[in-house]
Amino acid sequence: MNKCTVAELLSSNSFLQEVTIKGWVRTFRANRFIALNDGSTINNIQCVVDFENTSEATLKRITTGAAISIKGTLTESQGKGQSVEIQVNEIEILGDSNPEEYPIQPKKHSFEFLRENAHLRIRTNTFSAVMRVRSALSFAIHKYFVENGFYHFHAPIITGSDAEGAGEMFQVSTLNPNKLPKNETGTVDHSKDFFGKQTNLTVSGQLEAETYAMALGKVYTFGPTFRAENSNTTRHLAEFWMIEPEVAFNNLDDNMDLAEDFIKSVISDILKNCKDDLAFLNDRLLQEEKSKPQNERSELSLLEKLNFVVENNFKRVSYTEAIDILRNCKPNKNKKFQYLINEWGADLQSEHERYLVEKHFKCPVILFDYPANIKAFYMRLNEDGKTVRAMDVLFPGIGEIVGGSQREERLEVLQQKMKALNIDEHELWWYLDTRKFGTAVHSGFGLGFERLVQYATGMGNIRDVIPYPRTPQNAEF
Ligand code: 4AD
Ligand code: MG
Repeated sequence: MNKCTVAELLSSNSFLQEVTIKGWVRTFRANRFIALNDGSTINNIQCVVDFENTSEATLKRITTGAAISIKGTLTESQGKGQSVEIQVNEIEILGDSNPEEYPIQPKKHSFEFLRENAHLRIRTNTFSAVMRVRSALSFAIHKYFVENGFYHFHAPIITGSDAEGAGEMFQVSTLNPNKLPKNETGTVDHSKDFFGKQTNLTVSGQLEAETYAMALGKVYTFGPTFRAENSNTTRHLAEFWMIEPEVAFNNLDDNMDLAEDFIKSVISDILKNCKDDLAFLNDRLLQEEKSKPQNERSELSLLEKLNFVVENNFKRVSYTEAIDILRNCKPNKNKKFQYLINEWGADLQSEHERYLVEKHFKCPVILFDYPANIKAFYMRLNEDGKTVRAMDVLFPGIGEIVGGSQREERLEVLQQKMKALNIDEHELWWYLDTRKFGTAVHSGFGLGFERLVQYATGMGNIRDVIPYPRTPQNAEF
């Protein structure tokens, strides 16, 4: 063991070995104790400087944020708070960090301030823990699907279709906006554009994933998706990552089983593999909760919430049952909801979703069989002719984390639906082909990755679980 990481050293008991370690100074105390971090763990290793034999000039350069290389001897620690430490023999300053200018000082910074310094916030305990958990979750997701016989499908990022019919897309074009070529009718002539047609950044890889599921059986996407909605909430990003499994021959019940098993599996994975980071985030949240009024505090700690998801069944409730509950609940009767629920058919807002999961059921909930007219065109129509085989998974503190459905596999029904919604059949000819040639029942869903990371880390704002958030009026870095 010569060159190694802080994580390796902290779990080592090969004392009296000569080691080399490189990292960034977190704190330097009493001209003697360096807390060194290299990103391999939330924990720092203590490096004890022999200050009598170190030049004043070097000591001065050991400042918070500086990159250093240390050669020393690994010993059992005499002090409290750590089991091993390094007795420094040689210290080299690799990169200085001027304490007058370095924004990340060893004190509490607000998340707003850190967002403005998103390139440096990763050097704090909270953000390094969040991003390590994010990385571990990503790996757990790939692992889950590969172990369950899925193929990773890379959905295109530039598309000519609007999967959700939401119409809030970022356009992709190489035309000069100051000199747009026009048709006779005065509209923009996209035949002169790069792709010869109007294109946009994808809002979902689902439609393309469906074509692959109809040959490979089980596929999943895991990629960036883009929505140009002007939503300034703690749950919305303009660029976010989505995981979309799509499975041939699965009906809606199978789809719900998959979503539940998948979420439980990846959360139990990080409970096993991210112990130190989750313990830190658990404590952080407890501290944060203490500053809130008693009635706004969460009943469960972060670790309890994660274990709760793994250990309990998600409650499955039809939209119709949910509407009955909401119509008769106190906040609706007392007009506390911003949007009152008066009748069947109303779209659910996040206040309603959160009432159901946080107040009524107090557990993750899967709502299914929504009214057809508040859901996308591709969802399978039920026999009642007015509801579709849609499902949303709702999580406490988050609201909707998954949206999915059984897909309409019947060509004529799908064509009628598209006609009614003015969706051009010619644009989606390839999608309709899957219903013409060997169509079959199939289902899938989309999980918002950042919302999952929020739940897993207890972070209140989605901007704090993605390295460089893109939101309205903000694309710095
Ligand atoms: O419910 P959505 O819009 O569903 C779809 O896109 C389907 N095509 C998925 C499918 O069936 N394959 O989005 C899926 C999930 C939401 O439940 C939410 O977690 C997340 O994506 N999401 C967002 N996350 C962050 N910022 C946004 N603006 C989001 N919009 C959706
Ligand atoms: Mg949705």
